[in-house]
Amino acid sequence: MNKALSRWLAVTLLGAASAWAQAPDPATPPAATASNGPPPGFVAPAEPKADDSNAARAKSQPGNNAPFWRGVRNSGETAGVTQVPGLETGVLIQRFERYPGVDYATAGEAWRQVRNRFIIPYGGALMLIALVAIALFYFGRGSMGHASAEGGRRIERFTPFERAAHWLNAIAFVLLGVSGIVMAFGKFLLLPWMGHTVFGLITYWLKTLHNFVGPLFAVSLLVIFFTFVKDNLPRREDWTWVKKAGGMFSGHEVPSHRFNAGEKGIFWGGVFVLGLTVVLSGLVLDHLVPNLAYTRGTMQIAHMFHATGAVLMLCAFFGHIYLGTLGMRGAYTAMRKGYVSEAWAQEHHALWYEDIRAGKIPAQRSGDPAARDTLPQTRQA
Ligand code: HEM
Repeated sequence: MNKALSRWLAVTLLGAASAWAQAPDPATPPAATASNGPPPGFVAPAEPKADDSNAARAKSQPGNNAPFWRGVRNSGETAGVTQVPGLETGVLIQRFERYPGVDYATAGEAWRQVRNRFIIPYGGALMLIALVAIALFYFGRGSMGHASAEGGRRIERFTPFERAAHWLNAIAFVLLGVSGIVMAFGKFLLLPWMGHTVFGLITYWLKTLHNFVGPLFAVSLLVIFFTFVKDNLPRREDWTWVKKAGGMFSGHEVPSHRFNAGEKGIFWGGVFVLGLTVVLSGLVLDHLVPNLAYTRGTMQIAHMFHATGAVLMLCAFFGHIYLGTLGMRGAYTAMRKGYVSEAWAQEHHALWYEDIRAGKIPAQRSGDPAARDTLPQTRQA
């Protein structure tokens, strides 16, 4: 991605996002004029008097390096001289641009405002709302479903390969979720009682873990996608399921194939769209995408996609994890041991069960040695 395009994209995206951040920040100077120069009313520090050379200034106003920074600010990203090799190393700060809602600021400042005034507070609130909603649902409604997944003749719901792929992915996701939440919210939740030393150490190790588990999650997500995509393709009956919200409020589960429309929604929205967003932006943040110009603009864009995508994915999978543990009786056993009872299959995935009874789908797909008491194979009618 060339520099001009990455800057255009940075300005456009940050402009749009920061417009949300609305609240004026006293640190940034007042609103910009159409000319993109310093905004009207922006008071530049007094010009140094003729006799105030840097040496004299250092004496009379120690630490006041205004002329230097004025030069840096007005350099408009014209690279200064440096021995440090690499992109942008000669550019100390990004160009000042006009951002709606943030007015006259560098892209870095606009990004900081989007992160601190929008992604962190709204993202945090959204995750809390999701957790509270799940807790209220559980205490209001309890675990759903009647049939146990154990007992009677059994049907293989997940093969050993599918379960291994799922749990590898699930463990990587939980590690990334926890380390990501600590990096984003640890400052508010942990630092006040942990103190800087312990918090610094823990965050450093969790960040390192995050950077290494990320690529692993990228691979396992791909495996999950191709392993389950066939049974997540939309089917006519899914619409009936959606219209009746799966029978969640009537107490009568709506018949579905192997995966119901709710699971398919998590698959396409959570695994595919959000998974891809978080993984691709994560690989950029990990500098693992070849031939990419890792400018500050690129990293700022990648971070905003990554953080926003991760918050939405966490909210979606809070629901999946709830249903996969407490929320749906027998679901955990299905993914833990791979088998469900006939009664469970009939109650939760009636159309899938009928296809197995009719011999369209085998009751046992893998040569799993643990297979026993499985439903006898019926010749296709
Ligand atoms: C601790 C975390 C997790 C738990 C406890 C969990 C639990 C479960 C359970 C019990 C099932 C079986 C549901 C059924 O029988 O229909 C399942 C299916 C599935 N899970 Fe998870 N899961 C977790 C994390 C994840 C993550 C992070 C992903 C992907 C990013 C994921 C993707 C899937 C997929 C694709 C299926 C197959 C059903 C479908 O395709 O809709 N799971 N999970």
